[in-house]
Amino acid sequence: MSSVLPSQYRALVVETVGADLEIKTRTTPQHSPGSAIVRILEAGVLSYQREVYGGHRPYPFPKPLVGGFSAVGRVAAVGPDATALQPGQLVWVDCVVRGRDDQSASFLLGIHEGFTEGSRKLMRDVWRDGTYAEFAKMPLENCIPLDEVRLCKGLGYSIRDLTYLCYLLVPYGGLRDIKLEPGETIVVCPATGGFGGAGVQVAAAMGARVIAMGRNEKELARLKAHVTKGTPWASVETVKITGDEGADTAALQAFGTIDCVLDIGPPAAAKSTHLKSAIAALRRGGRCSVMGYVEQPIVDWKFMGNNLTLKGKLMYEREDMLLFVKMLEKGLFPKGKEFVDVRSFGLENWKEAFDAAAEYTGLGKLVVITPWSHRCLEAARFVEVIVEHSLSIVSV
Ligand SMILES: NC(=O)c1ccc[n+]([C@@H]2O[C@H](COP(=O)([O-])OP(=O)(O)OC[C@H]3O[C@@H](n4cnc5c(N)ncnc54)[C@H](OP(=O)(O)O)[C@@H]3O)[C@@H](O)[C@H]2O)c1
Repeated sequence: MSSVLPSQYRALVVETVGADLEIKTRTTPQHSPGSAIVRILEAGVLSYQREVYGGHRPYPFPKPLVGGFSAVGRVAAVGPDATALQPGQLVWVDCVVRGRDDQSASFLLGIHEGFTEGSRKLMRDVWRDGTYAEFAKMPLENCIPLDEVRLCKGLGYSIRDLTYLCYLLVPYGGLRDIKLEPGETIVVCPATGGFGGAGVQVAAAMGARVIAMGRNEKELARLKAHVTKGTPWASVETVKITGDEGADTAALQAFGTIDCVLDIGPPAAAKSTHLKSAIAALRRGGRCSVMGYVEQPIVDWKFMGNNLTLKGKLMYEREDMLLFVKMLEKGLFPKGKEFVDVRSFGLENWKEAFDAAAEYTGLGKLVVITPWSHRCLEAARFVEVIVEHSLSIVSV
């Protein structure tokens, strides 16, 4: 089933790693069984998107590649096997693509081809193109319905605000994986970055008491003020990473029993002492989710003696997304600027977008690429509504 798709669309393409990206006009993809064509409204930008396409963070992916990350879009057409998705539906467009016959064959659309022959094949031959484009062809299961009436009219989120899920969902995956419970205390470290800050906000929304750990005391204070202003019931403490492992453990333990740790550091933090301090502060039977880079031994005799659990986690599961959307629709997150303050750039301004994303980091900050101008979108939506209307008259 389809609404009006133009014959061509514009996409931002990585031809060669390290070279400028190029805007190309291409033939619009056609829907087929198992897929949807989504009109991309807003696509998130990673703090390290520039590093990925510039080759400084050597993630493997096939070229040419339409760049991207997760996005918010409107379904434009669906394959014949779609049973719930309809053209016009607002959807979360998720970047974690998994093999239908082998879930371990997973890759990150527009970012990384994954680690198996199957994931490489899927990215290279089937789902090559990302979301920095006017349209994207997506697996049906990667399009998560968003209740537009509840989220936008009821709770007052803009479609642009909703793109912040690209940050919030990631720590949620780790927190669900270690089964964080309401009332538990969790250390999030480092907490001053985009994903760490999001981890603090999400853990607070899940009902946990959060200890945010970071190097930058000014940012820690902003983080605490931001979370408690938006969600006054949240309980957030802060601890500075000093590099003195024992002292940092003691500073964490001064807040009482610590049940869980979420680590989500970049390669630059791989040798930082924070994770060892946080693990040493865990209670007997405590759990730790490692989502960041670690290049040092973090397991010692206390790990065994205290029955600790250490789990690695890449992104999240589909069920996590469905549950997260329910939390958002229930109103467990703040609104307006206390939720997110977004900076938007057109496809042409991709360089400015990547530069801004590298600087504009931390809780409540997001850079997006907006492939359509507002005017174009309104015109396209007008045509879609007219066509939908005429189709319904014809079918009556
Ligand atoms: N497992 C997954 O599924 C998953 C998904 C997405 C991303 N990630 C990982 O998450 C990482 C963080 O991304 P981001 O966008 O949040 O980055 P970001 O916004 O740049 O934040 C980086 C964080 O790391 C801290 N940091 C940097 N160098 C450090 C050091 N030497 N010692 C201690 N802390 C240090 C920063 O602290 P300051 O504020 O003090 O500089 C900041 O808190 C990424 O690099 C990526 O690898 C993992």
